[in-house]
Amino acid sequence: MLGVVASGAGGVEGLFDGLVRPALDAGWRVGVTLTPTAGRWFRDKGLVAEIEEATGLPLRVDSRLPGEPKPHPPVDTYVVAPATANTVAKLALGFGDNQALTQVSEAIGTDGVEVVVFPCVNAAHVRHPAWPGHIANLRSAGVHLVDGEDVWPLTEPRSGEWHPIPWRAVLDAVDGTRP
Ligand SMILES: Cc1cc2nc3c(=O)[nH]c(=O)nc-3n(C[C@H](O)[C@H](O)[C@H](O)COP(=O)(O)O)c2cc1C
Repeated sequence: MLGVVASGAGGVEGLFDGLVRPALDAGWRVGVTLTPTAGRWFRDKGLVAEIEEATGLPLRVDSRLPGEPKPHPPVDTYVVAPATANTVAKLALGFGDNQALTQVSEAIGTDGVEVVVFPCVNAAHVRHPAWPGHIANLRSAGVHLVDGEDVWPLTEPRSGEWHPIPWRAVLDAVDGTRP
């Protein structure tokens, strides 16, 4: 079971074609959870139904009520792509203030659950003094980071430079977590 988690970064609207569909085609069962920001974008663009139809599971944004069953089966691998600077920082610190973070923060501390993260960040995010610590925290916890100049060259904010989300590299990292 693959838990796909996505946050409010440019290009997240391509999640279905870039990550969900190929993962299903590769034989994964897939459940999708979005941060509240990404959830708002997906509802606005009418992108929820195709995901729910293809995965056969509800797209999660909100937490369940205590008496409700868990809407998704247990996950073997989580992939957080794209992960905003905000979501990376909160994951690195163990925050769980939305459903997406609740799932992945717990997974980072759970033996046997793999976590892949693609930080969709710019050069300014990376210059924040807390950033190196966040990345070091995640690496030391065994999180597989999809990053580096060849995969995601950093651009300056408002530079007008734009790169498509490297879905192929994300899928390769997910594939690498298969037992
Ligand atoms: C069109 C648009 C594109 C954005 N792209 C990014 C991005 O690529 N990376 C990033 O860290 N934040 C980006 N943001 C800012 C995040 O959406 C914002 O920090 C938000 O609070 C993130 O919330 P989340 O991490 O819970 O999804 C973007 C915002 C907008 C409106």
